[in-house]
Amino acid sequence: MNIKWDAAKYTSDFSFVHQYGNSVIDLIDADKNSTVLDLGCGNGALSKNLYDAGYIVKGIDASKELLDIARKDYPDIEFIQADATNFSLQEPVDIVFSNAVFHWIDKERQRDMLKCVYNVLKENGQFVFEFGGYGNNQLIHKALAEVFSEHKYTYIMPFYFPTISEYSTLLENAGFKVVYAILFDRPTELKGENGLKDWINMFVKTPFDAIENKDERETIIDKAVDKLKGVLYRGDIWYADYVRIRMKAIRI
Ligand code: BEZ
Repeated sequence: MNIKWDAAKYTSDFSFVHQYGNSVIDLIDADKNSTVLDLGCGNGALSKNLYDAGYIVKGIDASKELLDIARKDYPDIEFIQADATNFSLQEPVDIVFSNAVFHWIDKERQRDMLKCVYNVLKENGQFVFEFGGYGNNQLIHKALAEVFSEHKYTYIMPFYFPTISEYSTLLENAGFKVVYAILFDRPTELKGENGLKDWINMFVKTPFDAIENKDERETIIDKAVDKLKGVLYRGDIWYADYVRIRMKAIRI
């Protein structure tokens, strides 16, 4: 999950990522001064909201570019650069929180990540998170796969979007008790006339590694966007077909 982010554009044009994350914070049921790890904290916007809610917060992220912004904007919060599948903390925490991160972790590495979460949580600690669930951005990935195929390339899906039952099993095998789970559609408004093209450029990186020619990459994106205009462009606004999986589990 070592992506080089355009941190400034991520923060200015994709702020919905952390704005939607605020309602995930509501799943936490703990006293002020409880300790929270924000796993995959990115630019720290939700770490700050957790901090403002009265929690003692640490953020972890793999991206130096995003952590530079987080450290500059929120100097009172401790941010640590680490991989979500290979991290530890000196002191265990009461809560691990995460928003819009786990779909970036390969299915095969989820167990490593859950083991790290288990190890940093206190007994009965809360694990509260949301990410892309089964069917997330299905129309977008289908259109890209079709155009890749027309250009004689194979589209390798770069994300992990599990069902509730699949993820519950992973959690239970890792030593958690699932106490809440929901999968829901969340059509998400994108910014500007080029909203979908910008979204693809920002988030869909690795499938394009196989295509050396920059113009061909651009043509593929344009063709996919064109295919999607009839379904995802409504009233002059682009909407991405997001589906969220939101869960709460207790470390037993
Ligand atoms: C998501 O938050 O579901 C997501 C964002 C970017 C790429 C893939 C999924």
